[in-house]
Formats: sequence, structure tokens, C-alpha cells
Amino acid sequence: MDPSGPVLLGTHALLDPLQEGGCRRIDLDDGRSLVALRRQGELRLFLNRCPHRGIELDWVPGGFLAVDGHHLQCATHGALFDPLTGLCISGPCTGDALETFDPAQ
Ligand code: FES
Repeated sequence: MDPSGPVLLGTHALLDPLQEGGCRRIDLDDGRSLVALRRQGELRLFLNRCPHRGIELDWVPGGFLAVDGHHLQCATHGALFDPLTGLCISGPCTGDALETFDPAQ
């Protein structure tokens, strides 16, 4: 990991294992935030930035899941995202995708 890269704040969020189906917000020290979720046993990290308007997705801090409990949903215009790939499957940015976050960059 690049020591000059962004620092993950609230590291307890990473040390506390995310359960299957779990989803939470992680704030970075550079002002950005992440959507962290565990699906199919793997931790997935996306930048918390909707491809439609470039704003955060959550309707309350850490509130990312749609009513189906599976998809991620943007609070502003309701776009739905596949939690495995970040691909927008419904809404004004259909076909675009959330940006995957690589902690090593
Ligand atoms: S800002 Fe996310 S769908 Fe419009």
C-alpha cells in the first residue's frame, strides 16, 4: 500500500469484519468517502460518488441499500447499482458504473 495514499478514517470499520450482505460508509481523510460492502464473501469498495451528478449516494450517512436490501441506490434520483460490479441498472445513469476504489492507489 502506498503510504502517501488516502488514509482510511475510522479504521474500526475495517477491523470489525463486515458480515455477508453488510454495507457501510468509510470516510477518507481527503474528504472522499467509500461504500464498503461484502457480497459473495468478498469485500467491495466503491467511491461514494454517483456517476450521474458526482454527488454522494447515501440518504443518511451509510444508508446505501435499496428497499430490496440488495442493490445500492442513489438518494438523489434513485439510480440502482449492482452491488457486485457497481453498474447502474436503472435510473438516469444506466450503463455507467460506480468507481471501484483500490486502497493501494
Ligand atoms: S445524482 Fe444519483 S441518480 Fe442523480
